[in-house]
Amino acid sequence: MMRRNILLLLMAVLLVSCVKKDPVEAKIDALLAQMTLDEKIGQMNQLTGMGLSDDMKQQIKDGKVGSILNEVDVNIINNLQRIAVEESRLHIPLIFGRDVIHGYKTIFPIPLGQAASWNPATAEAGARVAAREASSVGIRWTFAPMVDVSRDPRWGRIAESCGEDPYMNAVFGAAMVKGFQGDSLSNTTSIAACAKHFAGYGASESGKDYNTTWIPDVQLRDVYLPPFKAAVDAGAATFMCSFNDINGVPSSGNKYLNRDILRDEWKFDGMLVSDWGSIDQLILHGVSENQKDAALKGIEAGVDMDMMGFVYISHIKSLIEEGKVKESFIDETVRNILRLKFRLGLFDHPYATPDTTAFYKPEALAAAKEAAVESAVLLKNNDILPLVGQYKSIAVVGPMADAALEQFGTWSFDAEPAHAITPLKAITDMYGKQYNIIAEPGLTFSRDSNATGIAKAVAAARKADVVLFFAGEEAILSGEAHCRADLDLPGLQNQFMSALKATGKPVVMVVMAGRPLTIENQIKDASAVLFAFHGGTMAGPALADLIFGKAVPSGKLPVTFPRMVGQIPVYYAHKNTGRPASNIVTIDKIPVGVFQTSLGNTSFHLDAGDKPMYPFGYGLSYSTFEYSKVTLSAKTIEKNQTLTAECTVTNTGKYDAKEVVQFYVRDLVASLARPVRELKGFDKVFLKAGESKTVKFEIDASNLGFWHQDKTYYAEPGEFQVWISKDSQSGEPLNFVLK
Ligand code: NOJ
Repeated sequence: MMRRNILLLLMAVLLVSCVKKDPVEAKIDALLAQMTLDEKIGQMNQLTGMGLSDDMKQQIKDGKVGSILNEVDVNIINNLQRIAVEESRLHIPLIFGRDVIHGYKTIFPIPLGQAASWNPATAEAGARVAAREASSVGIRWTFAPMVDVSRDPRWGRIAESCGEDPYMNAVFGAAMVKGFQGDSLSNTTSIAACAKHFAGYGASESGKDYNTTWIPDVQLRDVYLPPFKAAVDAGAATFMCSFNDINGVPSSGNKYLNRDILRDEWKFDGMLVSDWGSIDQLILHGVSENQKDAALKGIEAGVDMDMMGFVYISHIKSLIEEGKVKESFIDETVRNILRLKFRLGLFDHPYATPDTTAFYKPEALAAAKEAAVESAVLLKNNDILPLVGQYKSIAVVGPMADAALEQFGTWSFDAEPAHAITPLKAITDMYGKQYNIIAEPGLTFSRDSNATGIAKAVAAARKADVVLFFAGEEAILSGEAHCRADLDLPGLQNQFMSALKATGKPVVMVVMAGRPLTIENQIKDASAVLFAFHGGTMAGPALADLIFGKAVPSGKLPVTFPRMVGQIPVYYAHKNTGRPASNIVTIDKIPVGVFQTSLGNTSFHLDAGDKPMYPFGYGLSYSTFEYSKVTLSAKTIEKNQTLTAECTVTNTGKYDAKEVVQFYVRDLVASLARPVRELKGFDKVFLKAGESKTVKFEIDASNLGFWHQDKTYYAEPGEFQVWISKDSQSGEPLNFVLK
């Protein structure tokens, strides 16, 4: 009787679930049933915009294109969409994609800068602004966020990442997904996010773009994958493959990554696009003989859409006819693409409503300015900043002082320099009446090798009471395929700084760059240093506010700054090794003719020592903060219990200011050697001068664990340490035991 009842119940559940099929899936079923094989393959083809060319129109009419990237003219977009919706046999809309990475028209700081804010809300706000602006021209898909953990500042794409830490990339990536996608994808101001580049791209050898990576599975899962998993959890609608091979298998042909992990383990039901031509590039990688084999590998690996590779459109049909690929494979792929289009509401609202007021709205500019304020990191301050009335004349020099295009940073295809406010403009507009501003660029661009202007800038510095030196890198020196082996300030900027120092005037150096730079000597020469990354449209007003004290710096480094390139990779979450650095004897201290074993025999560089220039998490304020002793809720916790760590932070300085409080953990003894510290939480708190707040962090077995060689994640019982600290190097650890 009992068994019969259970059986009946099961049947009823089955019946209800059949009847109540997700309406989107039902629509996909109905559409798929009508599609020819050619139409299915057409959906898997993404082309770059060619305006209203006859060829493009015909291909759309014939159902040979599923998506177009890099078309931004709303009239062209609507025109092409009209052909897809009205003239193609099944009226399936196109989806228009674009690299809207840190803004469409209103440009926010580069993602590395946004991460320096340690304020995910600014990243979410930036992505929301970008979505509103881009969607107004019909772009409903962005190729962001990039959540590649990046531990090599030579790699130009570090600019697009949120730095070296998995947790930071996870938190910021999720915030950006939320911002791009809004409350619902079907809202016409939402754009589909794309978590990229799946996976391990940041580990490219010698920081050269597109290069080989070797990543053991435990490291892949502990370091490189968590931000992608967080993107899935945040609802990212799409993923993009990376260009690199990973342990010999390029991502676009990597079944383990794209099917086993992304689909099977994480249950991702969105769409996976290749990178530009990356399926075709399986040939150049040397894993496919020809395009047909590349297409086979791509489809077997679960890559749904071929971005500008032409291999799916050219070869999938014959692969099916030859029985090498099952049509059901293709159906799954097309299902993922159609699901995205339905979720975006493109079948109901295929067209964009042109809206010339969508760009540069006051609230967008205000959010961009706030993000730029929060992104700047004060590296040094010999009591000179903020400049508050003690000086009469100020020299504004350097190649980045008035370089509208350069302050946008990488990936700002649609930005308009006329809308950017440079530091020189902001300072002149805001403080030109109060101070005598003497502007002299010295160098016309960051790589300029013509020294004649430097003499003029030095003459300007001599006339002034204080010098503001805007140094850095032009936008073109970072980003995709823009990697550097030398991380000094380019061109004659070091010489420029030495000449400014020689005037005896205090020099405030503001660095606008796409990556950490090796500027140790310039920092020594400067009285204060603000590292501002590329701050976007509103970099100028933001920096003016910071320099003159209307705002207080609150950024902290999302990546370790090396002293020398030879230290790379240098990151805070390194292992202890069997010979941790101690007894540092640097090259200048080694006595001549000394016996070999007189040195420390520990892990450091003779010339660089064991410390970076600045650690991860570092950043100063105009105020000062004191941290009380940390207290723990228990000395021992069971696997199902939560540990709370708390500490009181007091603003002991004169300024109301924000402080980024960081929470780190170390697993002291485990079956695999663990990092010396791992970031597990952070909180940016606002404290009025004199105010105190208690900051709490919680941790339990679910995030004390790590990946093991048998592909399982769990926390091992034993002793752990926790820190609540200002950065990744300071603070006193407390111990607790996980039972
Ligand atoms: C190549 C880049 O790797 C990727 O990040 C970008 O989204 C695509 N090109 C499209 O422009």
